[in-house]
Amino acid sequence: MECACPAGRRFLLPVGQAVSYIGVLMTTSSLPGFRDFYPADLALRTHIFRTWRTVARRYGFVEYDGPPLESLDLYTRKSGEEIVGQLYGFTDQGGREVALRPEMTPTFARMVAARAGGLPKPIKWFSIPQLFRYERPQKGRLREHFQLNVDIVGETSVASDVEVVAAAIDMLRALGLGSADFVARYSDRTLISAVLQEMGVPEALLPAAFAALDKADRESEQWVFDRLVEAGVGELEAKRVLALADMDLADLSDQFGAVAAVEESLSRLRQFREQAEAAGLAEFVELDLRLVRGLAYYTGLVFEIWDRRGKFRAICGGGRYDDLLEAVGGPALPALGFGMGDVVLGELLRDRDLVPDDEATLDDFVIHVSEAELPAALRIVHSLRARGRRVGFDYRSRSVGRQFKVANQSGAERVIVVGPEEVERDECVVRSMGTGDEVRMDVADLFSGAG
Ligand code: HAM
Repeated sequence: MECACPAGRRFLLPVGQAVSYIGVLMTTSSLPGFRDFYPADLALRTHIFRTWRTVARRYGFVEYDGPPLESLDLYTRKSGEEIVGQLYGFTDQGGREVALRPEMTPTFARMVAARAGGLPKPIKWFSIPQLFRYERPQKGRLREHFQLNVDIVGETSVASDVEVVAAAIDMLRALGLGSADFVARYSDRTLISAVLQEMGVPEALLPAAFAALDKADRESEQWVFDRLVEAGVGELEAKRVLALADMDLADLSDQFGAVAAVEESLSRLRQFREQAEAAGLAEFVELDLRLVRGLAYYTGLVFEIWDRRGKFRAICGGGRYDDLLEAVGGPALPALGFGMGDVVLGELLRDRDLVPDDEATLDDFVIHVSEAELPAALRIVHSLRARGRRVGFDYRSRSVGRQFKVANQSGAERVIVVGPEEVERDECVVRSMGTGDEVRMDVADLFSGAG
């Protein structure tokens, strides 16, 4: 086998030997933070994706996709500092500054903006992109992950806020998780912006204040306080901001109800609660006024789903981003949605023993008694496959005992045996692996009963 090496020189390598360039033995590990999906891992991923798709369609969302590589400025302008610092960015061979997508929302906004005029509203789309962020790999956080994105464009109603949160909750319920396992915490960025300003945080410092508050779930109060002060928020004001954690809507109404922006957001949040209760979601949703979300483009409702036992990172996050479409060059259309990653969710499902059993890989296994019956066995194998059955056989004509063992391991529900006598009479013996019952039948009847 010939191998083209980086220096352009060619080396002859024996087939089957690990490929190595001079002195550099290639490793069998994937890059840090990147996963190999062995069949059992992929089975779990497929189970998650299948459930996501089923639930998204139940809500009337349709699937779309976009390119994994985008222009760098799509993120530098709109995603916020944290994600920009984690970009896999480079200059392509045409001299363009590009990046692997770290999130789907900018692509979604760009795609909708390009065709917004022609699309009936509300636009309800979902996607399951693979995303790339150069994070420090840790439990629940990798450098690539798959993320369900569910978004609605063209709606400002509270009902659409509830619809999106309900969809996220139902994704998890459909996977077998309940209100003892997770909680959707929600808040409103407009409300928090108005309240922080009333507390004395200048508008220009809001992004820094949000970035500090966004870490409140992981860091200590002192840490958040220090970041606020570092950003330029006064100590007294920073203390007031921290007190938000213990406030509820009534407290905010008492203290800041006279401010129009506050009262408007409070009214939306009250309606949100009422509608979520009407939708049967009371036990799944909780107000959390410290929640602001790290991404820069959110404008109204924000929410995150967390594991109740606090063992894992956020499972899901989203909110309203009413200005983003216009900011990427489209019409001014309100939008909202969420992203739910496969990494934390997979960890949670494993933790709660909610990973489905391995599926059988075969329906039928055709055993041939000796090599002489291989042609007859092949005819049966291929005729059954043509009828849609998953069928295996032994490539090496090993002993019947060995073939039964392999058939057992494959989980096949039926074993079909052909020996010299059966070939002569155009028959076969069919054994049900579940019951052990055996019947002799014409091969033609085997096909008429299949598929
Ligand atoms: P996000 O909060 O950055 O939001 O990500 C959403 C979810 O994706 C997180 O809660 C987490 O489950 C998963 N996730 C994010 N980063 C990683 C990582 N490095 N490793 C594993 N899982 C991760 C967004 O991306 C928004 N664009 C979501 C959105 C859609 N908002 C509106 N529409």
